[in-house]
Amino acid sequence: MSILKSSVAKKMALAIAGLFLVLFLFVHLAINLTLIYPGKEAFDSAVEFMATNPFIQVMQPILFLVFAFHIYMGIYLELTNQTKRSVKYIKNNPGAASTWASRNMIWTGLMILGFLLLHLYNYFLPFKTQDIADHYQLVVSLFKSPVYTLIYVLAFVSLGLHLSHGFQSAFQTLGTPREKCNKTLVILGNIVALIIAIGFSSIAIYFYFN
Ligand code: HEM
Repeated sequence: MSILKSSVAKKMALAIAGLFLVLFLFVHLAINLTLIYPGKEAFDSAVEFMATNPFIQVMQPILFLVFAFHIYMGIYLELTNQTKRSVKYIKNNPGAASTWASRNMIWTGLMILGFLLLHLYNYFLPFKTQDIADHYQLVVSLFKSPVYTLIYVLAFVSLGLHLSHGFQSAFQTLGTPREKCNKTLVILGNIVALIIAIGFSSIAIYFYFN
């Protein structure tokens, strides 16, 4: 696409896609929390709603495309901009040390990608291709495996790290004035990262022990 020719435009598109994915994560977390409270009936109704609501049916392929785009663009920018990026950080952020999370976006991203594929295989494929009688049971039974629960928690720790840098970075990519908003965005980004990492992980750990 010619509109995405410049690397700034590419980075902006990656940022918008990333923020869209953050929104999706909050919706997903809200649904997953119903597994614990109010419980089975509420979760089953949420699944039924997601499977039949026309708006969700339209959003699903869009979400898939946004994921694919973000992953493609993330890997592309990593491969082409690696040296440019480290120069840019030093130029834009004199004196400020870059964080581990900011230097390892590709690795936390690849961890998330690995988990995404596993997640599609474990949940999405059976949901789409089989007549699952008990959605709640399918989800909860996976958390009884220590290996699966460990992979799940590690994936969400990676996602938390990705967002601890990615959330504030996305707003700066989109032009938020650095001097005014930097501190607030860093704090907000860390809060978002903690909610997502702790929120998803604690559900897995809860069902592992209960
Ligand atoms: C739910 C999953 C994900 C969310 C919410 C997310 C969110 C974000 C956000 C908000 C940014 C910041 C954009 C910016 O700096 O302007 C970002 C950057 C990045 N993401 Fe993701 N991401 C996700 C998954 C992935 C995956 C699966 C990959 C696969 C490789 C990936 C690779 C990257 C890379 C490499 C960057 C940094 C690009 C750069 O600074 O040049 N992300 N992500």
